[in-house]
Amino acid sequence: MNIQQILKISADKLRQKNIPSTALDAEVLLLEALSKCADEIPPAPFLKGGVLANDAPRNDNKRLDKNWLYINNNYELNKKEEELFNNFINQRLKHKPVAYILNRKEFYGYDFYVDENVLIPRPETELIVEEVLKILNNDRREQACLFPTIIDIGTGSGCIIISILNELAKNKKDKIIHNAYANDISSEAISTAKINAKKYNLNKKIKFIRNDFEKFLNKKSIYNSNEIIITANLPYVKNDAYKTLSEDIRKYEPKIALTAGRDGLVCIESLVKSVLKIKKKYKQKIYIFIEADPDQMSRIMAISREKLANVNLEIIKDLSGKKRIIKLLYCHPELVEGWKAR
Ligand SMILES: C[S@@+](CC[C@H](N)C(=O)[O-])C[C@H]1O[C@@H](n2cnc3c(N)ncnc32)[C@H](O)[C@@H]1O
Repeated sequence: MNIQQILKISADKLRQKNIPSTALDAEVLLLEALSKCADEIPPAPFLKGGVLANDAPRNDNKRLDKNWLYINNNYELNKKEEELFNNFINQRLKHKPVAYILNRKEFYGYDFYVDENVLIPRPETELIVEEVLKILNNDRREQACLFPTIIDIGTGSGCIIISILNELAKNKKDKIIHNAYANDISSEAISTAKINAKKYNLNKKIKFIRNDFEKFLNKKSIYNSNEIIITANLPYVKNDAYKTLSEDIRKYEPKIALTAGRDGLVCIESLVKSVLKIKKKYKQKIYIFIEADPDQMSRIMAISREKLANVNLEIIKDLSGKKRIIKLLYCHPELVEGWKAR
């Protein structure tokens, strides 16, 4: 069978099972199957328009791209390629998300290893990375001697903290970080995050802590820098809403990464309470970035205002204009006075 035929047949099969984005999924899975078997692709035939297929990336150990599929749609798959592709399609027909089939998901331009122990990173979470980088890329920070500790709670694949550290390293600013912690209650998630940290050479930089975040945030030893940045994409799906999520999600993504009680706010409320304890005990400047559902924002604002006096709150919208991230900034009054005196 050639590329055009096999793509059509598999997209039809996926459509019959009500899988969303059938054509795209079939293409991505075919590209992966062909790339994995790339060494065995026979010498390229001539292409339409007289362009040699050898010009297209196929045997160079890099992943093939979509253009290659289009210009080579008459390419006959060999047995191994067809078997591997059919194996992928069969997994997708059982609603397994493409990211878990490929064990890969791109987030903030970086490839992350993912498996069924961790949530598949979502594009809206990239906003947290962007907002943290806005703070850290301020050139006046070093003069002000601000060397923060970054704490990523509910780290999952580690996508947030690893992307932040990768971006800082790219701009030669990684030295400004005093400490970096990644915490998760799931030991399997911690193992997956460690794989990603190793991939980006950050396994020595990030300390991984498996624990309930409330217990972890109680540890005095983590507050030994003058600024704390907490990133938190914790579970926030309401119990009832969980039942309405797609089969892909319910069957394959870890429930512990998604649900948080009747109102979906169990974890976020606990986090706000933990911050109250931190702010009573320590004098650091504390930033907290929390991802939540747009419907939950006003409730989170109210809880934060009620529990944390003198906290600055800002809501950050995603690209589609939905309220997605809440940014809290707390400065101990003595610190504020100290700055005024300077
Ligand atoms: C929504 S997922 C986010 C994963 C990752 N940060 C991301 O953005 O893709 C939430 C994560 O929080 C973890 N988690 C749930 N309850 C927790 C708790 N009480 N303490 C620490 N981590 C928790 C889950 O295991 C899961 O990995």
